Amino acid sequence: MKLDVDYLLTTSDPVATEELFAEARRVRDEVYGRRVFMRGLIEITNHCKNNCLYCGIRRDARVQRYRLTQEQILACCQEGHRLGFRTFVLQGGEDGWYTDDMLCGIVEEIKRRFPDCAVTLSMGERGRDSFRRLREAGADRYLLRHETADSEHYGRLHPAEMSFDHRMQCLQDLRDLGFQVGAGFMVGSPHQTLETLKKDLQFIETFRPEMVGIGPFIPAAGTPFEHMPAGSVELTIRLLAIIRILHPHVLLPATSALGTMHPQGRERAVNAGANVVMPNLSPQDTRALYAIYNNKLSTGSEAAESAADIRARMKAIGYDVPTDRGDFVK
Ligand code: 5AD
Repeated sequence: MKLDVDYLLTTSDPVATEELFAEARRVRDEVYGRRVFMRGLIEITNHCKNNCLYCGIRRDARVQRYRLTQEQILACCQEGHRLGFRTFVLQGGEDGWYTDDMLCGIVEEIKRRFPDCAVTLSMGERGRDSFRRLREAGADRYLLRHETADSEHYGRLHPAEMSFDHRMQCLQDLRDLGFQVGAGFMVGSPHQTLETLKKDLQFIETFRPEMVGIGPFIPAAGTPFEHMPAGSVELTIRLLAIIRILHPHVLLPATSALGTMHPQGRERAVNAGANVVMPNLSPQDTRALYAIYNNKLSTGSEAAESAADIRARMKAIGYDVPTDRGDFVK
């Protein structure tokens, strides 16, 4: 199926839009069935050496910083495992405090205690050797959004010391080392155009990441982009459907940013081809501090609440939420 991406991203014809979503559901169901996989998100640190213009925990942001200890992280996993999670996603800013030795120790211990679980890391750019060690320690997957596939656009979202080429190199290294790799981008980030979005879609078609995380840009207080308009929920959902059709096997989360922007955002995403949800397993008292954007979802709630809420939402729209690692299907 050759997609007319320009038309599908801009048409106001409700019939064409509904057909797009129906096709995305059909393609997803053929590969994964009517199943939505859960990932337990553990936000392990909000320290970050980077100064990305959009991000609420950038280096210059005046926020209270925290780090979770290995014991705290393991306690989150324990609770998550009890709740039926079989993937844990350790996410954080780029924080040199977590040396390779430490992170490897944490990954090894999670895999030792929960051998039926996948470990996903989302800790930003690291060197190839570091990635190799983490892979050897047992990490299965790595999320590193490319943020934009247009190098000039990349330069307008990031300070000069960050590089598009290095980002892409990291993604390639992760792939070569045998990780299931997640890329992705924000929808409606400042200076994004239809042309840059088409480059994102081309990148996804050629690199074929196992996971693609996309969500609307949401302005974050205290950042250079704090007064920029938020991205569109509608456009995000169309892009999800297009990505599903271009790459039928992709694991595609209905992101919290979508849930934050629209009360039914995640349900709409699943109805347009998404098949992953990532409830928060972080300790209740550190959640508010991981404020990458304003009004982030379920800031004050407990792991069990977030998990029950999301499960109920998925069941209500007719999806199964299995207790399963939910690996990429080749
Ligand atoms: N709005 C939406 N998404 C954001 N991210 C960072 N800041 C924002 C924001 N203000 C996304 C980035 C990053 C991921 C962890 O969160 O794409 O890769």
